[in-house]
Amino acid sequence: MKKLGIYVHVPFCRRKCNYCDFYSIKWKEETENKYIESIINEIKSYGDFLQSKYIVDTIYFGGGTPSILDPNNISKIIDTINDEFEVDKDSEISMEANPKTLTSHNLLSYKKIGINRLSIGIQSLNDEILKDIGRLHNSNEAIEAIKLAFNHGFHNINADVMFNIPKQTVEDIEDTLIKIIREGVKHISYYSLKLEKGTPMYLLEKNNKLIMPDEDDERNMYYAGRIVMEKNNLMQYEISNFAYSGYECKHNLKYWEQDEYLGFGPSAHSFLNNKRYSNPSDIFNFCKEANNNCFNRNIHEVLSFDDLVFEYIMLNLRLTKGMNINKFNEKFSLDFKIKYKKQIEYLNKNKLVELDDKSIKLTNKGMDLSNYVFQQFMEK
Ligand SMILES: C[S@@+](CC[C@H](N)C(=O)[O-])C[C@H]1O[C@@H](n2cnc3c(N)ncnc32)[C@H](O)[C@@H]1O
Ligand code: SF4
Repeated sequence: MKKLGIYVHVPFCRRKCNYCDFYSIKWKEETENKYIESIINEIKSYGDFLQSKYIVDTIYFGGGTPSILDPNNISKIIDTINDEFEVDKDSEISMEANPKTLTSHNLLSYKKIGINRLSIGIQSLNDEILKDIGRLHNSNEAIEAIKLAFNHGFHNINADVMFNIPKQTVEDIEDTLIKIIREGVKHISYYSLKLEKGTPMYLLEKNNKLIMPDEDDERNMYYAGRIVMEKNNLMQYEISNFAYSGYECKHNLKYWEQDEYLGFGPSAHSFLNNKRYSNPSDIFNFCKEANNNCFNRNIHEVLSFDDLVFEYIMLNLRLTKGMNINKFNEKFSLDFKIKYKKQIEYLNKNKLVELDDKSIKLTNKGMDLSNYVFQQFMEK
């Protein structure tokens, strides 16, 4: 049986942060109830014809803010997945959580219903920065949320941290990371703030009311963060992800290893049978469709053989272990070193990739110029 990941998009937040363009609306109990009914219908619409071919080994609740939901509702979703799919008993079940919504009552329920990995949105431990970017929590509440999760028996905890924030300094970043690592998290997702079109921060910058760090400052914060994490044995395994050995996120690894996953809920993406597709974003349309058992999925692309090959190289090169050449050759019945002889020689000469018998990977310089490296493999 083939392995399958499941992603559930929870499109609610208490309040929108100033930088974020993930699809979410303001939470209301009534909308939550409609959403739960709809998502259960959607899961049921798949089960029958996938059950005999796939075994689910990762489930990921992302958002928005999954921790805003009533835990009984999360339990209903997990029960439906268990009813409709074959689910490995050792599955990784992750949930994104906002420090403001993590309570003792909720954590006890999460434990009972089988959630075994939490991803907490910390972002920064500088109160002024947290306020500027529109977070609801302060630094104390962020640290307390991690402590609370540990005290309720969660050991596999990720913290999301952002750098490249206006007014942020290298010292800020180092201080934030050191304090978070001290709390014992096993994984850190380390994102460079990107100004997304239409967000309040994007508009402020456009009107010259906000100055973003320049490129050099952005890279310096990235390097400084990487040094702090690696000194503390949180090893980089992907451009933005660091973990102690054995705590890499199995679900996210599926995205980079071109494995199959199904996304449920408004705006969720799927990759199945070489097709990439997504659900419409609007939650009310999503609920309407689910009530009629008619799901309009936007097919983005049916990947051709060449697309699959290029995408596989690009995704795997994001991983610090790089791409396993034998696996590539077997998967596509090609000889990587012959097919890409010209590109490999050029990239190797310019110290952008490293190559041995088994794998090809980006150097540190290659990571900084990753998009340029990927482009080389696009050329025929
Ligand atoms: C969908 S959020 C889920 C976490 C939860 N909603 C919270 O914010 O506490 C996932 C992460 O994406 C990152 N993120 C969101 N917008 C971003 C942006 N514009 N640039 C960089 N990182 C971003 C943040 O670190 C955030 O924690
Ligand atoms: S960062 Fe998290 S809490 Fe903030 S708006 Fe985005 S999804 Fe919601």
